[in-house]
Amino acid sequence: MRDSYNRVIDYLRISVTDLCNLRCRYCMPSGGVKRMGRSKVLTSEEIVRLAREFVALGIKKVRITGGEPLLRPGIVDLIKSIAKIDGLEDLALTTNGLLLKEYGAKLKEAGLRRVNVSIDTLDPVKYRYITRGGDLNLVLAGLEEADRVGLTPVKLNVVLMKDFNEDEIQYFVNLTKEKEIDVRFIELMPIGEMVAWSYSRLVSNRLVLDKVKGLERVASKDKSSPAVYYKLPQGKGKVGLINPLSCKFCQNCNRVRLTADAKMKLCLHSNQMIDLRKTLRSGGDLRSKILTSIYEKPLEHDLEGGGFSKRDMFQIGG
Ligand code: GTP
Ligand code: 5AD
Ligand code: SF4
Repeated sequence: MRDSYNRVIDYLRISVTDLCNLRCRYCMPSGGVKRMGRSKVLTSEEIVRLAREFVALGIKKVRITGGEPLLRPGIVDLIKSIAKIDGLEDLALTTNGLLLKEYGAKLKEAGLRRVNVSIDTLDPVKYRYITRGGDLNLVLAGLEEADRVGLTPVKLNVVLMKDFNEDEIQYFVNLTKEKEIDVRFIELMPIGEMVAWSYSRLVSNRLVLDKVKGLERVASKDKSSPAVYYKLPQGKGKVGLINPLSCKFCQNCNRVRLTADAKMKLCLHSNQMIDLRKTLRSGGDLRSKILTSIYEKPLEHDLEGGGFSKRDMFQIGG
């Protein structure tokens, strides 16, 4: 499947729920958020049906996201069904890790290949602060379990924040010394409801290169990856820098997103949503709806033009 700029679209990110068991300060307001109407949320059968159509059109990699995807009832069976789709080559999941200890083995058995885990600090007190109440020990136990059952290579997503975790950059990088673990520093994106808070915490992830001595650039095999990779000379894992606001990888973008209420999102930062639910539920021609929609994928995001997504990350899945 190609878009109008001749980019191959082979990566689908499916958000399976807007629910989350954390309230990260850059993502959600303290009082929580208005939930999606339950009747709008796709059933597991509907998600599998859509995933099949996408794979038939050329999607090779599916990533399951949220909110927190492990909160969705029936997530293991859903993953099992998606893993069985003929032609799918990679199935991964992005999680905050709180439930990974409990679900790791079952997910692996269901056919999940690997996980990316969001963890912004290695200090339990700071973790509780930034997530408004989360228990870091559960995440660390989850990471061990992911390693034990082989949901690897694990990638850690660390959102860099001013006066919060700049002092932990070296600790995070050190994790790549012993294990084949990738640590990716993400620049904070001021989007959704927490725009104002995020602006006060913005910091460039060039800071990683300033603070850590000896990082060497590694050529990336995957041109469409949002991360630019480095490694320590003896490091087993890599250190990635993700600048979601720069347009550097837009021209190689290979992905589209599906929200839990069946809106197809052609660019992380655009407000354009294409509703697939009506077509799905009325028995319409999904395949041609998807194909024609893909043609509307923009060449790059329009952040300079003020085009921030009005949806928060928990509704988009990152
Ligand atoms: P891999 O399959 O391991 O390469 O995962 P990934 O990096 O695609 O997925 P992950 O969910 O770990 O995303 C990490 C971060 O990359 C997100 O939180 C975003 O900040 C950024 N990112 C992912 N997709 C896009 C995108 O389409 N555009 C932009 N600008 N940033 C993105
Ligand atoms: N800016 C940057 N990254 C964000 N994430 C969530 N909200 C933001 C934001 N405003 C990250 C999460 C997770 C990934 C899916 O998106 O921490 O690692
Ligand atoms: Fe935090 Fe992710 Fe949950 Fe948002 S969706 S509150 S970033 S764990």
